[in-house]
Amino acid sequence: MRDIVVVGSLNVDICVQAEHIPQPGETVRAGGLGIGPGGKGLNQALAARRLGARVHMVGRVGEDRFAEVPERALQQAGVDASYVRRVSDHHTGTALVVVDASSGENAIVVAGGANHQLLPRDVRDAVAAFRASGVLLVQLELELETVEAALDLARENALVTLLDPAPVLQLSDTLLRKVDILTPNASEAERLTEIRVRDPESAAEAGSRLRERTGGNVLVTLGAAGCIWVWPTGFEHVSAPRVDALDTTGAGDAFNAGLAVGLARGESIARALRRAVRAGAAATQRSGAASAMPTPEQLDALPDGS
Ligand code: RIB
Repeated sequence: MRDIVVVGSLNVDICVQAEHIPQPGETVRAGGLGIGPGGKGLNQALAARRLGARVHMVGRVGEDRFAEVPERALQQAGVDASYVRRVSDHHTGTALVVVDASSGENAIVVAGGANHQLLPRDVRDAVAAFRASGVLLVQLELELETVEAALDLARENALVTLLDPAPVLQLSDTLLRKVDILTPNASEAERLTEIRVRDPESAAEAGSRLRERTGGNVLVTLGAAGCIWVWPTGFEHVSAPRVDALDTTGAGDAFNAGLAVGLARGESIARALRRAVRAGAAATQRSGAASAMPTPEQLDALPDGS
């Protein structure tokens, strides 16, 4: 099995469970306060490690007390954090997460702080981690030039490149051409294509539009409805195990990690996708982000896809 390198964000998540997600100008009562490690990069690194991969994390935290939260989480999980450094004059990335207590849906705002200080040259300094790896996981909580540097270095070293386009930004064709597997959720696919994604058919249409731009595979994740896999000559709807979601925070991260672990094992995308949808579903069964990343036993305990 090859290693996985994650170039991404490390945050502290401040989470609450509310009666509903507030509208602009509205104040809503909440409970269930939780403060813990998060960030799409850290969550994906932790999930891939829990699912059995050796993982290298490349990122930045601030010179503050919050930094200890993601640093400790990586160390306890056994993720190689030699390329995670502290930067002065910037705070550790911080996310405010509101979870709708009845549906498990969430809304997140992120103050990226030190994550935006990860530079292209820092990525190139981590070339040894890339050489040891078969798969790159990268997201958009970094500067775009840093994301592009990671994709370039991965290509130079023959890694499979996975881009989770979250939080969504408009992306150039030049950048998208460097992505082997793009994994937008429905709202990201909609923002990237201006096609309204409301069911598997419209997800396939948006996925096909994006596939024309990447030239690779596109996976449009649809939460409880699984995902649409669009490849060069067709598409398939992959269903997810039927579960009641408690908290969807981090489900997309678990999905990406599950996929990366399968690919690092040398599995086909079709097979790796089965692990990915199970990992995404399992992550909805616990509160929080990093703390909800599943183990193989939790994946095995889920019912089969519906
Ligand atoms: O995907 C969930 C993550 O998004 C949270 O952990 C939060 O930090 C934001 O990055």
